[in-house]
Amino acid sequence: MLQEQLERIDGNEPLRSELLPYCRLKCGQLWEDPRGGHRVACLDAANETHTALLLGSEKAALAIQDPPYNVAVGNVNSTDLGRMPVEDYIRWSRAWISSTSNSLTADASLYVWLGADQAAGFQPFADFILMMRAFPEFKTRSLITMRNQRGYGTQNNWMAVRQELLYYTKGRPKFHVEAEYTDIPKILRGYYRNVNGQRTENLERGKSGNIRAGNVWVDVQQVFYRMEENVPGCYAQKPLKAIERIIRASSAAGDIVVDFFAHSGTTLLGCERLDRRCFTCDIDPIFTEITIRRLERYRETGKTGWQSDSPFECQGMQVQQDIL
Ligand SMILES: C[S@@+](CC[C@H](N)C(=O)[O-])C[C@H]1O[C@@H](n2cnc3c(N)ncnc32)[C@H](O)[C@@H]1O
Repeated sequence: MLQEQLERIDGNEPLRSELLPYCRLKCGQLWEDPRGGHRVACLDAANETHTALLLGSEKAALAIQDPPYNVAVGNVNSTDLGRMPVEDYIRWSRAWISSTSNSLTADASLYVWLGADQAAGFQPFADFILMMRAFPEFKTRSLITMRNQRGYGTQNNWMAVRQELLYYTKGRPKFHVEAEYTDIPKILRGYYRNVNGQRTENLERGKSGNIRAGNVWVDVQQVFYRMEENVPGCYAQKPLKAIERIIRASSAAGDIVVDFFAHSGTTLLGCERLDRRCFTCDIDPIFTEITIRRLERYRETGKTGWQSDSPFECQGMQVQQDIL
């Protein structure tokens, strides 16, 4: 039976102290990729000086931000993913949004993944949207919902299966609509319209035989331990398909993409596969190490993750267990 070789890392102090010696970055350090021009750093997203160091003199065309959602995931309150008063969360968000704005070119796109706690006034989603109005340079463009396959809930409420994604633009960046087409064939006829005196229906008028994702994404498989892209130890990994859809839609080959909350390094991997440069950071040295290792593994093996194997396979836990 497949079983993940590494437990969730945050909040697990014995595991963390075992893995930290294998992490090449300490807080305040940056790894510059000699081959693809990517950067990975161990920095605080909310510290303007830190993020300025990540960017240097360069600017990004796209930011994909996936901060902690101010909920205790799996009821674990860790240093990386805790729950704070919503006012503090918004103050913190304002700081990293300000850094994001400074990292972007005049014509750029910003995507923010976020959640709404239905047991607590839909925080921090509602508060975050209002806070964003203090940044007039960011224009609201779309509120996307991605449907998760696994949900949570009780028998007396709707099952919670949604994941929110906010899309803003600064200036007038290009939107590459081709990226929006799914693999799902159009199956419904209808929407008749007269074109040059001929009655046509939607299937013949359409540019593609497939449907557009629109702002409700139902075609993205949530990451779980049987998928190749799974990264054991990471608890909040986004599907590569979703991240690559964003990268394709809102950037071009050669562009710089920033992500201040790297975690399992999905944005970095998407950028590598799509010929963009990714400048990314995480406050936790273990996640910056996993991010770098994921890129290296992809280059060596073509694999997008570890499925159920440990990213620290030959070290740390594994070696320790062999000795015991
Ligand atoms: C929701 S996860 C990001 C998931 C990522 N998109 C992926 O696909 O793997 C949030 C990450 O933010 C990091 N983090 C929390 N506070 C941070 C801060 N102030 N600066 C930078 N990273 C932070 C956490 O360590 C965690 O790895």
